[in-house]
Amino acid sequence: MKASVPLQLQSDQREREREREAAKMSTHELLSRVMKEEPVGSRSKVTVVGVGMVGMASAVSVLLKDLCDELALVDVMEDKLKGEAMDLQHGALFLKTHKIVADKDYSVTANSKVVVVTAGARQQEGESRLNLVQRNVNIFKFIIPNIVKYSPNCILLVVSNPVDILTYVAWKLSGFPRHRVIGSGTNLDSARFRHLMGEKFHLHPSSCHGWIIGEHGDSSVAVWSGVNVAGVSLQKLNPKMGAEDDGEHWKEVHKKVVDGAYEVIRLKGYTSWAIGMSVADLVESVMKNLHRVHPVSTLVQGLHGVKDEVFLSVPCVLGSSGLTDVVHMTLKPEEEQQLMKSADTLWGVQKELTL
Ligand SMILES: NC(=O)c1ccc[n+]([C@@H]2O[C@H](COP(=O)([O-])OP(=O)(O)OC[C@H]3O[C@@H](n4cnc5c(N)ncnc54)[C@H](O)[C@@H]3O)[C@@H](O)[C@H]2O)c1
Repeated sequence: MKASVPLQLQSDQREREREREAAKMSTHELLSRVMKEEPVGSRSKVTVVGVGMVGMASAVSVLLKDLCDELALVDVMEDKLKGEAMDLQHGALFLKTHKIVADKDYSVTANSKVVVVTAGARQQEGESRLNLVQRNVNIFKFIIPNIVKYSPNCILLVVSNPVDILTYVAWKLSGFPRHRVIGSGTNLDSARFRHLMGEKFHLHPSSCHGWIIGEHGDSSVAVWSGVNVAGVSLQKLNPKMGAEDDGEHWKEVHKKVVDGAYEVIRLKGYTSWAIGMSVADLVESVMKNLHRVHPVSTLVQGLHGVKDEVFLSVPCVLGSSGLTDVVHMTLKPEEEQQLMKSADTLWGVQKELTL
């Protein structure tokens, strides 16, 4: 005779069967793990500190150029940070960056290859970049040690203004070797110059060669002897190029470069797109180990008569190790004089800083 199963036991069995069925139908069945160990983490991570106008323009430019497999964002404004991160994540379908993360805690930046620093106060209408300095130095005292803690081997790319002084500050605070601390410097000023030159000749800026060096901003130096199209020196065609009595008024073009940021700030309140794209161009040279030459801010002590520990822009080679070489420009005595004058101005400010 068959023993009868108690009612409670029958109901438990049915429940377990239902659970087994449900588990079979769960989306957990989609993937079965082949690898036992933890997957390898990011291979090419970029962090952007500061999600203001410049930070976000840089982040988007980096994403659209497919330069990293992970992008980390950091800021002190938590809601803004979360909102910006979500907004980017919603566009993930259109990107080739697998992971976008954000947090005010710097652990989120761990193992970055490049860290772009755009955090800080920005210039007000009419305010000079040098005026900003102490406000941003204080911010850097918190940011830089945190970056170093989580990415001790990263390349630091400083964008916050005054960029040459803050690159020096980042170098001091980080303890990094000089080849791993780069300022975006006159990369943008040179791009502005090449754009204006392109407008003059109806040529693409990439075919218009010219280098703006020295301080990013008011005392930058246009190297007229190097301005060329297809290797044809414009100064050989117009020996007065850049001089006061130059009938073609090339000095005005350089003035437009210097005034360009002030004009954009007057018109729209801040600058963002061009600096963002120029940052991504620098990040590309590092991430892809391109060994391209860019005008960026580096320690120029001992170069062109500069004696103090200041950072100014000169043409530099960028690759995966950072800033590997400096190109020695053949400058005229008056150009070297201008560089030394900028260096004196910067040193005058730097030596007063408490780091
Ligand atoms: N080098 C260049 O060519 C260049 C060009 C344009 C602007 N800039 C500079 O870039 C900087 C940013 O400009 P912006 O227009 O994006 O300013 P913004 O005010 O829009 O953004 C600055 C961001 O920094 C954040 N921030 C402040 N303190 C912070 C901290 N301790 N940690 C993390 N984040 C912090 C703010 O919350 C804000 O989101 C300014 O210094 C500006 O002058 C440089």
